[in-house]
Amino acid sequence: MNLGLRSMQSDDIEEVLDIEKEAFSPLWPGTSFKRQLNNRYSAYLVAYDILVESETDTIDQDGIIDRQGQWIETFVDTMRKVFKNADTRTSSAQKLAGYVGVWFQGNEAHITEIAVREALRGCGIGELLLIGSIRSATKYGSTVVTLEVRVSNFIAQRLYEKYGFSTAGIRKGYYSDNREDALIMTTSPIHTPEYQRQFDLLQQAYTDRGREIYISE
Ligand SMILES: CC(C)(COP(=O)(O)OP(=O)(O)OC[C@H]1O[C@@H](n2cnc3c(N)ncnc32)[C@H](O)[C@@H]1OP(=O)(O)O)[C@@H](O)C(=O)NCCC(=O)NCCS
Repeated sequence: MNLGLRSMQSDDIEEVLDIEKEAFSPLWPGTSFKRQLNNRYSAYLVAYDILVESETDTIDQDGIIDRQGQWIETFVDTMRKVFKNADTRTSSAQKLAGYVGVWFQGNEAHITEIAVREALRGCGIGELLLIGSIRSATKYGSTVVTLEVRVSNFIAQRLYEKYGFSTAGIRKGYYSDNREDALIMTTSPIHTPEYQRQFDLLQQAYTDRGREIYISE
């Protein structure tokens, strides 16, 4: 499996529901992905198997990238290593590694959920999904990106802090399963040269680790 990012489609929903179920509490209310796909004020992205779809797609990055080009080989090699190191190999029925949902509300882009298959965590896929979300928010014209995260979810908090999110407040007893508090985390304004410069550096650092950023239309 070799990964890129693209918009979620209706035939992804079954797999996305599996990932959601695995990642969140059994009491998590679950998302009506079907409804969200028709919502022009949201963006749902999936990390998908790039080779399966390579025949038909073109890839949008800063600059023109051809799927047939040299970078494919590099990326394929990298992701082969990633998946070789994962405890559980994905079956041919599993084409998706993770997903993220973003709602555009006024000036804010709000990340509603982000999840990676458990067996594939720690390989940069969550970071790729977050990069895709911030790019979507920038493209949409949002001023800031916000989200809620459990106070106990240090892994997710580290990821968000890396991309400039800081704690803006607490929602007491926000999670209905155990009444856990949520941290409200938000970026500084994302259109400023400072944020964009930092975002560019982070993306550069991501690719310097042999991880590539491919986002298809
Ligand atoms: C949170 C989540 C999406 C991260 O995805 P991931 O693919 O495992 O994360 P990545 O490999 O891309 O790691 C990116 C960054 O996250 C942080 N991170 C990831 N794993 C970590 C760990 N075990 N310990 C501490 N920080 C960690 C680090 O900052 C890391 O950057 P680094 O590689 O420079 O250290 C994933 O753990 C997940 O799906 N969790 C369950 C669902 C969930 O909690 N979602 C968040 C709801 S708010």
